[in-house]
Formats: sequence, structure tokens, C-alpha cells
Amino acid sequence: MSRQILCLPGDGIGPEIVTEALKVLDTVKERFSLDIEVSHALVGGAAIDAEGTPLPAETLKLAKQSDAILFGAVGGPKWDDQPMTNRPEKGLLGLRSELDLFANLRPAILFPQLAEASSLKAGLVAGLDILIVRELTGGIYFGEPRGVRTLENGEREGYNTYVYRESEIKRIAKVAFEAAQKRNGQLCSVDKSNVLEVTALWRELVSGMADDYRDVELSHMYVDNATMQLVRKPKQFDVIVTGNMFGDILSDCAAMLTGSIGMLPSASLNEKTQGMYEPVHGSAPDIAGQGKANPLAQILSLAMLLRYSLGEMAAADAIEQAVGDVLDQGLRTGDIASEGCRLVSTAQMGDAVVNCLQ
Ligand code: NAD
Ligand code: IPM
Ligand code: MN
Repeated sequence: MSRQILCLPGDGIGPEIVTEALKVLDTVKERFSLDIEVSHALVGGAAIDAEGTPLPAETLKLAKQSDAILFGAVGGPKWDDQPMTNRPEKGLLGLRSELDLFANLRPAILFPQLAEASSLKAGLVAGLDILIVRELTGGIYFGEPRGVRTLENGEREGYNTYVYRESEIKRIAKVAFEAAQKRNGQLCSVDKSNVLEVTALWRELVSGMADDYRDVELSHMYVDNATMQLVRKPKQFDVIVTGNMFGDILSDCAAMLTGSIGMLPSASLNEKTQGMYEPVHGSAPDIAGQGKANPLAQILSLAMLLRYSLGEMAAADAIEQAVGDVLDQGLRTGDIASEGCRLVSTAQMGDAVVNCLQ
């Protein structure tokens, strides 16, 4: 039976970069004789425009039926006036929650060809390979109660709830410990346990699991220090595990170590093999429609999809190799451009990856 990929391009540069990833998928399907069917649906602002809601029932149904989802990006100024409950971002958050995609893997790997594009000195980032394991379906993003209320004196007050259950902490920590076992055996848990009870519980539980993973060296860091350490000496990290909001922020920070956020893919996994795969970046309204977007994070997300949800390791490896090859050729989109490179458009970059795969 053929495997089903649901493609959700979304908004802004989403459709532009997904187009390139789909060219790459067609190429690997042929080269590796993969039996994969792709369907399309609306999400985010595009779905609000067409159906009035960022996550139409039909999209959710198709998502639940699929083996994996290739997601572009959602959001943009056009929908900024939507009420919080109907913003494009709710389409993405709804999918994560409905599919229970609690484990978000965000690898920050420096391609050696991009050492000069990094915000840090080449020596600090050479060989960089960090995995951020971000909890994705809990924490302050989903905690209740939430909202804006009017106080007795007429003043309004906004509030959210930062909450984690033991089971939520343990299952993400397990993913992180196991990832560290397969890598360099170092796990750093990032929290704010000096201030927030919820993350004090996080630290206590993660520490309590260390005995089960004696081959992993566990450390803890406060999130403010961790952010500083990421730009001071990033190679001290192997695997970082953290909650939803800290993981969001730390991964954008880690992105710049690799040259551009346009290079960072991600996988969002549940307890089954189903997963959603998307770049770490957003819809980049400032460059949308101009052929300037870097499609490599989306293409590398497709590689993660093939590896984690479909078990197609050879195809995944080939895509990552091809990305390295186009960088070797000196091809660069604007975000990773450096002196002497050949500046290319989104489509030219996608075509170059396809050429390297044929
Ligand atoms: P952003 O990631 O969209 O853009 C930040 C900066 O990075 C911009 O200057 C942009 O041009 C650049 N950039 C991002 N991706 C790039 C790429 N592939 N190639 C070249 N440059 C790239 O973040 P933002 O501007 O804060 O948010 C814009 C919109 O995207 C908002 O509506 C936000 O909610 C949404 N967003 C969506 C997702 C998602 O769908 N997963 C993630 C983050 C932000
Ligand atoms: C991300 C994004 C999302 C998040 C937004 C768009 C909901 O920033 O995937 O990193 O905060 O998780
Ligand atoms: Mn983010």
C-alpha cells in the first residue's frame, strides 16, 4: 500500500519552499522507487481566507489519516487582526495538539560550507551539531486558564498558565535521553527552576530519570544562562531538552549559529511513527513572493520525514548529501550569501538539489 503524505503549504514563503521540496520528493520517489502518494490541504491564513478557520475539519481529517505531514509555514500581517482563537498560528498549534505531536526535534547542524555565514566566528561553530528536543504540546502554549480579563478598577489583565504534568515531562525527557544515547551521550535540561515551580518539578523528574540512562551525562542549566552559552560556546552542547516556549526561543537562537534560520528543519513526533515536518522559521512576509526564500530547511525537513516516518534512510541520506553538494557548488540564497558565491533564487536552489539527486 502506498504511504500518504499530506502537504500543507500555508502562507507567505510556505508555498514557495514546499514547491521545491515536492520537486525533490518526486526525484527521490523515482530514484528509490518509493510508493508515496501526496495530497494537499489548506491551513493557516490560506484556510481562513477560503473557509473562515485556520484548521478546517477536512484538513484535520486528512492529517489524521496520513503517515506524515509536510508543513510549510503559516501567518502574516494580513491575519494579524484575527482574534487569538482564529489566528493562522492556531492551525499549526491545533495540528500539534490533535495529533499529540509532543516531541519536536530541532537539529542545528552547521554545514561546513556555511561557516562564514554563521553569526559567530568560524572557529566557534566548526563541526557544530546540536539537537534541541522541545516539548511541543504542553507548557504555557496550551495551559489553562488563559485570556484577558477586566479587573474591578477597569484595568485589563492578560494571563496564561505555565503548567506541566509529570507524564508530559517524563515522556519528553525519555525522548531526549534516548536521543543522547544515540549521539554523544550528553544531555542538558534547560529550565527556570530558580523561579518557576513548574520547571522545578521538571528538573526533579529529569534528574530522577538519570539512573535509567547511566550512559548519558545529564546537566541542568537555567534558560538565561543557556541562551548565553549557546552563543558563547555552542559546541559544549549535544542534546538540549526543554519546554515549549524556551525551546521555541532557543531554536531560533541556535539557527543563527548555522548561518540562517533558512537552514533549520524540524520533526514533530507522537508515540506512533506519524510526524509533521516543517522548517523552524516562519512565513517570512518580508520576502514572500520574491523568489528569495531559502528552501533548504523545507527540503531538509522532507529528509527528516523520509527518515523518521517512512523509514526511507537511503532517500533521506541522499537528500542531505545533495544539499551539501549544492553548497559545495557555491550556490547560495540571499540569507546565506557570502563573498564569491553564486546568488540563486528559491527555484534555482530547488532545481540544483534535484540535479544533484539525479
Ligand atoms: P520568520 O521566521 O517568518 O522570519 C524571520 C526573519 O527570517 C525574516 O527576516 C525572514 O525573511 C527570515 N527568514 C525566515 N525564513 C527564511 C528563509 N527560508 N529564507 C530566507 N530568510 C528567511 O519570523 P517572523 O517574521 O517573526 O514571523 C512571520 C510570521 O510567521 C508570523 O505570522 C509568525 O507567527 C509566523 N511563524 C510561523 C511559523 C510556522 O509556521 N512554523 C514559525 C515562526 C513564525
Ligand atoms: C515555531 C513557531 C510556532 C511556535 C508559532 C508560529 C505558533 O514559532 O514553530 O517555532 O511558537 O511554536
Ligand atoms: Mn518559533
